[in-house]
Amino acid sequence: MLGNFTYHNPTKLYFGKDALDSLAEAVNGFGPNVMLSYGGGSIRRSGLYDRVLSVLHACGKTVIEDGGVMPNPTYDRVLLGAKRARENGIDLILAVGGGSVCDYAKAVSVSAYCSEDPWEKFFVRGEEPSERILPVGCVLTMTGTGSEMNGGSVITNRERMIKKGHVFGSEVMPRFSILDPTLTYTLPEWQMVAGIYDAFNHICEQYFSGEDENVTDYLCEGLMRALISASYRAKKDPHDYEARSDIMWAATWALNTLLDKGKTTDWEVHMLGQAVGAYTDATHGMTLSAVSLPYYRHILKYGLKKFRRFAISVWGVSEEGSDEEIAKKGLAALENWMKDMGLVLNISDLGVTPDMIEDIADATFIQEGGYHVLTRDEIVEILKESL
Ligand code: NZQ
Ligand code: ZN
Repeated sequence: MLGNFTYHNPTKLYFGKDALDSLAEAVNGFGPNVMLSYGGGSIRRSGLYDRVLSVLHACGKTVIEDGGVMPNPTYDRVLLGAKRARENGIDLILAVGGGSVCDYAKAVSVSAYCSEDPWEKFFVRGEEPSERILPVGCVLTMTGTGSEMNGGSVITNRERMIKKGHVFGSEVMPRFSILDPTLTYTLPEWQMVAGIYDAFNHICEQYFSGEDENVTDYLCEGLMRALISASYRAKKDPHDYEARSDIMWAATWALNTLLDKGKTTDWEVHMLGQAVGAYTDATHGMTLSAVSLPYYRHILKYGLKKFRRFAISVWGVSEEGSDEEIAKKGLAALENWMKDMGLVLNISDLGVTPDMIEDIADATFIQEGGYHVLTRDEIVEILKESL
C-alpha cells in the first residue's frame, strides 16, 4: 500500500429485503421537517412512495414534497431545491431514488445556506462547504453510482454545457442509506445493465493506476468478478434476489472511498462519458460503455502490465503468449461481456454526431492519475473511434 491516508466512512447502511423497516429508526434523531426528494414517478408507480410517506407520518414528521428530480440533475433544479429547503426550514433531505436523486440531495444540502454562487464555489473552484450543511438520507432504488455511500455529487449545468462532479467530504455523505435489493426489481433492463457497467467502470477507474503490488487491486478484482457473475444471473432472471443483492453490495463498495486508498486513480473514462452526457443527456452508464473500449485500447501500451493482470485475474485468460497478446485478449473478453449485457458501444447510438466531437472534446477534463495523460488531439481521436 502506498501513501498516507485517513479512512472514515460515516454512512450507516441498512441492507436487505427488510431494510425499509429500519427507516423509522434511521430518521429518528433528525428534526421534524423532512424534504422528500424523488425522481420522475417510478417510486409512485412501485408503491414505495406510499410506504415511505406512511413511515414518515408515523414518526411525526412534516413532509415537504420535492418530486420531479430528473436523471442527470441540473444546476437549475438544485437551486430550486435549495430554495425550497431553506424556506421550509428543512432538517433532513430524504432522497428516494437512484444516483441522480442522491447526488441532487447532496448538492442541495450544501447549497441551501451557501451565501455565494454554489456552482462557482463547489463545481468550478472545488471548495468545501463553509456554511450550514443539511443532512441527507437515502432510500436507493437503482444501483451503480455508489452515491448512497460517498460524497459525490455530479450536476449538469445546461447553460454552460458542462457536467461536473464534486466529491465532498464525510460531512456531506449520506447519514444513512436503506439498501433493499428488491426495490431495484422494477428497473428496466436498460437501466439495470447501465448501473452494472457504471459500478464495474468505477472499479476500473481505480484499478488502472499505479505499478505497485497493492491490496486494493485484489479487492478490485474480487468485486469485478462478483459483478460479472451476478450480471449474467440478473439478466436471466431480474428477480434473482441473490444476484440483485450481489450487484447492489458490489456497486456500493465500488465507490465508497475504499478502493481509492493507495491508488492515484484514473477517471478519464468518466470525464469522456460526462462530456458526452453534457451534450446528449444520455444514461450515465451507457456514456461510459460507449467510450471505454477505444479509451482502453488507446492506453493499453502505457499500462501493459496491469492490462495483462486484468486479463488473467478478472477474465481467466491463459498466461500463454506475449504480454500484449494476453492484454488484448482481456479487452476482447470485456467487449464480449459488454455485448452480452446489451451495453451501448458507440456514442452515435447516444445521439452524438461527428460535428459535435470538437465541443465534446472541449468539455472533457483531462485527468493525470492513470497510465497516460491524454492530449486534446488524443481525446478527439478516442471520441472519433467511439462514434
Ligand atoms: O426518475 P424516476 O422516475 O425515479 O426514474 C429513474 C430514472 O429515469 C429510473 N429508476 C430509478 N430507480 C428505479 C427506476 N425505474 C424503475 N424502478 C426503479 N427502482 O431510472 C432512471 C435513472 O435513474 P438515475 O438516478 O438517473 O440513475 P443512476 O443511479 O445511474 O444515476 C445517474 C447519475 O449519477 C451520477 C451520474 O453522472 C448521473 O448524473 N453519478 C454519481 C456518482 C457519485 N455520486 O459518486 C458517480 C457516478 O460515476 C455518476 O457520475
Ligand atoms: Zn459512474
